[in-house]
Amino acid sequence: MNGSTIEVKKLSAGCGAEVLGVDLRNLTNSQMETVRQAYVDHGVIFFREQTLTPEEHIAFARRWGDIDINKFFPANGQYPEIAEVRKEKEQKTNIGGGWHTDHSYDASPAMGSILLARELPDDGGDTLFASMYAAYEALSDGMKKTLGSLRAVHSNAIAFGAAGFYKNSDQAGGFKGEGLVGEASHPVVITHPESGRKALYVNPGFTQRFEGWTDMESKPLLDFLYAHAVRPEFTCRFRWAPGSIAFWDNRATWHYASNDYHGHRRLMHRITIAGAPLG
Ligand code: SIN
Repeated sequence: MNGSTIEVKKLSAGCGAEVLGVDLRNLTNSQMETVRQAYVDHGVIFFREQTLTPEEHIAFARRWGDIDINKFFPANGQYPEIAEVRKEKEQKTNIGGGWHTDHSYDASPAMGSILLARELPDDGGDTLFASMYAAYEALSDGMKKTLGSLRAVHSNAIAFGAAGFYKNSDQAGGFKGEGLVGEASHPVVITHPESGRKALYVNPGFTQRFEGWTDMESKPLLDFLYAHAVRPEFTCRFRWAPGSIAFWDNRATWHYASNDYHGHRRLMHRITIAGAPLG
């Protein structure tokens, strides 16, 4: 496959592209640049039929930056760098089954996440993505101005704390780190460090409130933004097959793991790449 021409095929107007004609085990530097540009341009990129071992998955991730080991997810025993996104046949709760972006509760939020399909149900288990560039750009000038002066507080306690969502679900056994919960504040509108474009940076999974506002005061405006940001024209939907990979930009997109395959097992391996403070 090396030496063949890379094709970048847009998946929808809102976000996402499939990158065809690459073998992620041995990308040349020039192929790596094409892939990097596709990632910056489309917010999330997809690859098919990548038969990566865990070591090759880790090696590909390291080409993008340091690995940010998730404090809460079930780790893959042998490889702490790989978080397992797993739902067993008997479980009803999936991981990531609500719109969110990874690690926005950290002072330096994750740059990206590389999710590799290991075991899939015959049907269902798709992942949806939404572009926070498109969401921001479609707002009125007045709203953009208001949001431009705000920061928001993001917390992981709601998801991963002792009284959080997962600890009170049938996923509780796998989660760890409940004592490591914390919060961070970021601008509500960020300028993406690579594209230079403005993106909306709040999300329903982790954003608590606008800084200096109460939760109650924040809720109506956050609810408006959450409904606005997932307008179908800003989204794309990815149907997995064994060996598929999605690599998303956490600063430019949200994602949502569809929970429509009860009674079947789904196992994904996720590696998260470290990022930097956002401005
Ligand atoms: C996640 O939120 O990282 C999981 C996405 C998925 O399993 O599709």
